[in-house]
Amino acid sequence: MILVTGGAGFIGSNFVLDWFAQSDEAVINLDNLTYAGNLENLAALKGDPRHIFVQGDIGDASVVAKLLAEYRPRAVVNFAAESHVDRSIHGPEDFIQTNIVGTFHLLEAVRAYWSGLVDAEKSGFRFLHVSTDEVYGSLAKDEPAFSETHRYEPNSPYSASKAASDHLVRAYHHTYGLPVLTTNCSNNYGPYHFPEKLIPLMIVNALAGKPLPVYGDGQQIRDWLYVKDHCSAIRSVLEKGRLGEVYNVGGWNEKANLDIVHTVCALLDELSSRVDGKSYREQIAFVTDRPGHDRRYAIDARKIERELGWKPAETFETGIRKTVRWYLENQDWVSHVQSGDYRNWVEKNYAERAR
Ligand code: NAD
Ligand code: DAU
Repeated sequence: MILVTGGAGFIGSNFVLDWFAQSDEAVINLDNLTYAGNLENLAALKGDPRHIFVQGDIGDASVVAKLLAEYRPRAVVNFAAESHVDRSIHGPEDFIQTNIVGTFHLLEAVRAYWSGLVDAEKSGFRFLHVSTDEVYGSLAKDEPAFSETHRYEPNSPYSASKAASDHLVRAYHHTYGLPVLTTNCSNNYGPYHFPEKLIPLMIVNALAGKPLPVYGDGQQIRDWLYVKDHCSAIRSVLEKGRLGEVYNVGGWNEKANLDIVHTVCALLDELSSRVDGKSYREQIAFVTDRPGHDRRYAIDARKIERELGWKPAETFETGIRKTVRWYLENQDWVSHVQSGDYRNWVEKNYAERAR
């Protein structure tokens, strides 16, 4: 079996669901269920003996050690993190605790477990760390996309904390020989994406008749990848990745934020039009920019394509249509995640952004 951390969040839950669509190998899912963790994402697995959910913190070495000793997984896939840049700007401490200190304790527990394995178990073991393109900083318009050797230049407390965790993972390989793999992926979108992030926030606000808050001039560029393509990339790296290596994952889909919002509006106009017949574009509101906002991310995904034969299955056009449909068909999920905590966050983040 494998141990997945953060498997009740957006990407982690998609990964666990996809895993069982391909394999019967059991998954222990360790997640401490922060505001971003949601067992409803895993409702399809209720009663499935292949899925063992444990509520706990990656920073709690005794919990992790106990799980490793009891279940003896052949791999750990680490998704657990604080993941939202705006939240890291309002309050960095949780990011330092989970992304840096938590990853450190997780690595220590895994190192102790791995050191005690013998022969084939030891050489076959893998620790896969899921990271982000944001560790590389921001690109100018004409600069080449991020390769795996691009310098680290994180700009937000979130990306700095992820960069620190990447360095720890690298050091555990270099110093102790821990068999690690790291993936640095671009922006994901798809089902179960928490509506604090751009695409689900726009869908949810549009349908609720609320403003669609575009930061600054909306010309910041992100490189979008459908979440299930990220999951297939992680499976490829886990299976075939070279030890100690880093693989950048991206969809060759650079888009400006405003274009993303226009696309979402056009799909909603087609699939669930406004009662007054006007376009959802009418709800777009330019608001104060994110402090330190990175201008452009772009991933050079040639290494994973060349070495592992991975390619995304979705284009942006097919993926975004599936995503908008999913939100339209899963309004109960949306209303359940919009708890008091969610409303407090929206108030905190957007009230002070003047139109
Ligand atoms: P998310 O915020 O949706 O989910 C994070 C999950 O981790 C939640 O279920 C949460 O409860 C859990 N968690 C948080 N702290 C924990 C702790 N201390 N112990 C155990 N569980 C904890 O995040 P996501 O968007 O699914 O991102 C998953 C990973 O992928 C993160 O490491 C993130 O940095 C990385 N990543 C995300 C994107 C993206 O576009 N979302 C892109 C590239 C990389
Ligand atoms: O690049 C990978 C990263 O992508 C991941 O590591 C992060 O975990 C993930 O959250 C994401 O970070 P971003 O900051 O790029 O995602 P977010 O959805 O928050 O914002 C996307 C862009 O949209 C960004 O330029 C800010 C802008 N934005 C965002 C929100 C929430 C807006 O214009 N308005 C908004 O209300």
